[in-house]
Amino acid sequence: MELVPLGPGFGVEVRGLGILDVATDGEAYRAVRAAFEEHSLLLFRDQAAVDDVQVAYSRAFGPLELTKVASLGAGSFYSRLTNVDAGGRILPPTDRQVLVAQANALWHTDSSFKKTPALASVLSARVLPGADGDTEFTSTRLAWERLPGGLQERLKNAVATHSYANSRDQIHPDLANAEERKALPPVRWRMNWRNPVNGRRALYIASHAYAIDGMDDRDARQLLAELMDETTKRDYVYVHKWRPGDVVMWDNRAMLHRGRPWDYGKERSMVRTTISATDADGLAHVRPTTVH
Ligand code: OGA
Ligand code: MN
Repeated sequence: MELVPLGPGFGVEVRGLGILDVATDGEAYRAVRAAFEEHSLLLFRDQAAVDDVQVAYSRAFGPLELTKVASLGAGSFYSRLTNVDAGGRILPPTDRQVLVAQANALWHTDSSFKKTPALASVLSARVLPGADGDTEFTSTRLAWERLPGGLQERLKNAVATHSYANSRDQIHPDLANAEERKALPPVRWRMNWRNPVNGRRALYIASHAYAIDGMDDRDARQLLAELMDETTKRDYVYVHKWRPGDVVMWDNRAMLHRGRPWDYGKERSMVRTTISATDADGLAHVRPTTVH
């Protein structure tokens, strides 16, 4: 296995191993798992990412998330991001799927609004629009390490509230429907996630976060916005330009990402599988009820 650096201080392209190797060979899995813990983002090029192989790869890392209600692929392991309908016709810009893509353009970490947040996401490119539609990533681990000591101390035990509706409401008031609002009530997480393998902390924030325990709501929103701005400065961002056959995996404990817009008159279809976090991944630490 060879690792080629990609982003500013995080992210590697994995060469010499493919996702099928990881799915079928314990030694390959352990090597790739170690790279994931260390580098937060892995890119595999030229993969034949059929659904089954993507699931087999993802499963090696932990239990898979089921796609939430009212999403394409609800109740399955697959989350389908696309702007075409089942017949392959381009959806109008007002369609829910296109609005979903716009909500993905807000900096976020996947599933911080769920009762069990995500360890990692695996995204494969199936149909690309030709230009644009890049995905951007930034390291919240490096962001944490850049914070002044006083702020780190303050945020070590701070707890933020996240909800799905909070990010969707920024795009359109009806984007989160009644079923989703009911299924996904707000959840609270410590504002840093400590990686149990290397002990490094990462700032745990997202467009889903809006309140902080013990803080006035306006002050909390302002602090969250400042942390977000600082974390996502241009120089700290890796822009992934998708090629056919690309599979990208990222650590939702230590990364923020966003999908850039594209010409919605062209098809862009991606498939995501998502691995749930477990206590072995440091979930116990991020739960506000546990004292560390
Ligand atoms: C995701 C996501 C952005 C994109 O799959 O979780 O945010 O560029 N995707 O498709
Ligand atoms: Mn996402």
